[in-house]
Amino acid sequence: MARPHIEPFVELNESYKNFTLPGFTPSGSHFKVLSLDTDVGACTLKMRFDGGYTRKPGMSYSDVEIFVLNGMMKVGDQFCGEGHYLFVPAGYAMGALEVPQGCELLVMYNDSEPSFLESDTHHPLCLKEGYVTVNGYEDAPWAPGNLVNPSVAAGCMIKVLRYDVLTEAISFLYCMTPQFMQDNISYHDCAEESYHIWGESWMLQFGDLPTGGYFWRPPYINHGSFRSKLGTIAFGRTDSKLHNYFHFNPWS
Ligand SMILES: [Fe+2]
Repeated sequence: MARPHIEPFVELNESYKNFTLPGFTPSGSHFKVLSLDTDVGACTLKMRFDGGYTRKPGMSYSDVEIFVLNGMMKVGDQFCGEGHYLFVPAGYAMGALEVPQGCELLVMYNDSEPSFLESDTHHPLCLKEGYVTVNGYEDAPWAPGNLVNPSVAAGCMIKVLRYDVLTEAISFLYCMTPQFMQDNISYHDCAEESYHIWGESWMLQFGDLPTGGYFWRPPYINHGSFRSKLGTIAFGRTDSKLHNYFHFNPWS
């Protein structure tokens, strides 16, 4: 996941483009690129499916993560509404998509460029047990942010949506309480990614990040202190094990 550092980026300022890659329905499907690995095509997209959009069952050659920001998407016979998270392993034949009234999503292709092959059976090498489907708003409890030690300051809560047992990558929702503050500077061995579903935060090095704000932060980028004045709920990921290295050197 060798993506460049993008921070801060506010996707609400950008326009959608039509999604016209081979295998995708040519109309009713739109995207914005939030981050992109230009070597392999792995990317994080914000996507919009218009009301009436449908797609046949099929698979991707990349692991795909999906988070429903608003609206509702039917996957096979499952209704995936606001807050729904899917981890779709490479080669997993997803059910047919139906979007009755439109929806917006974060869609993350972890290994390669977006691909779609119509199929109602999984690829023989698919790690299909890895499929995750959970509503992050309704089916997962908030937990203290001290998942790792040393930990983020109190007032940052987390809902873990997926943990990768091989890479120790995690995908999660997090929130910061109003007037949350952490006064030290952090860096990590892993990349960090975040999308502000709602709210705002401020980071010493990168300034304000409002609703629709996004960052892809490669390893070893110093960040902090940081705070949130009025609170934030966000979707976040790491690409490997998260360890917090803390210091107070403002010249770093
Ligand atoms: Fe961090």
